[in-house]
Amino acid sequence: MLSKKRMHLPNNTHDVPPALDAEEAARAAHERDKSLTKHHFEPHEHPCVRIEHLVKTFDGETQVLTDVNLTVWPGEVVCVLGPSGSGKSTMLRCINLLETPTAGHILIEDKEITGHLLQAEVNKLRQNLGMVFQSFNLFPHLTAKGNVMIGQTKVLKKSKEEAEAEALKQLEAVGLLDRADYKPAQLSGGQQQRVAIARAVAMHPDIILFDEPTSALDPELVRGVLDVMRRLAEHGGMTMIVVTHEMGFAREVADRVVFMEGGVVVEQGTPEQVFDNPQHKRTAEFLGSID
Ligand SMILES: Nc1ncnc2c1ncn2[C@@H]1O[C@H](COP(=O)(O)OP(=O)(O)O)[C@@H](O)[C@H]1O
Ligand SMILES: [Mg+2]
Repeated sequence: MLSKKRMHLPNNTHDVPPALDAEEAARAAHERDKSLTKHHFEPHEHPCVRIEHLVKTFDGETQVLTDVNLTVWPGEVVCVLGPSGSGKSTMLRCINLLETPTAGHILIEDKEITGHLLQAEVNKLRQNLGMVFQSFNLFPHLTAKGNVMIGQTKVLKKSKEEAEAEALKQLEAVGLLDRADYKPAQLSGGQQQRVAIARAVAMHPDIILFDEPTSALDPELVRGVLDVMRRLAEHGGMTMIVVTHEMGFAREVADRVVFMEGGVVVEQGTPEQVFDNPQHKRTAEFLGSID
């Protein structure tokens, strides 16, 4: 039964044009993106995420996102770079409504999520959007296997047997089958993050959002997590939006690299375009400062 509780999202209080018609938007986005991504477009493909003129203001004054425009295509791997405070996390958190957008539009598979949504619609949206956080966010009292099962049983209403089989399959995929019965405190940070990835994938979302998944890890643990993400990108067919400072990963794995600063997308393109021939001074300075 649909919950009657509504999320009241104050929207379109600014002078933002209405979201474009889906066909028109898909054509315009394809025209814009086709030279900026290594994604192989299907005929008449529509973007799975469409962000138009997104604004996010905190406390009525701090404007963190000023005008974000971005489209992401099914199966595309998009790496988002940018200095601390540029609004990367806020953008990701708006996509799954952990933050309420102040103005503008976000459409997931052509369905507008900005505006008034029923709580049940928000829950359905979140099922389709996995999220992997910098700080893992595992349940400390559950084992690795328990962490990967719980969303499946509680949200997807799978049987315990089904959820367990899926959990073991996903733990094996991240190289942690032998740690299935360990609690998070008995695992390294890298192992915990791989459990968190297994947990996200076990829900079979269409899209996974990663917010600096390796930033909290000791350097020697970073590679194992990036390897898991690389395999997911190459074989999973999943749409991935990855906020990261791992330039090597972005260069090798991304279909598109997006550089954000000051609450806008400053520049985007294929990894070669952005890393080897940045068009904006700020992109060049940022890339220069972190290499
Ligand atoms: N809940 C909040 N309340 C007020 N300001 C916030 C909140 N969340 C983030 N900010 C501010 O928004 C800006 C962008 O933050 P964030 O999206 O986390 O940037 P990034 O992920 O690129 O480092 C920062 O200046 C941060 O202090
Ligand atoms: Mg952040």
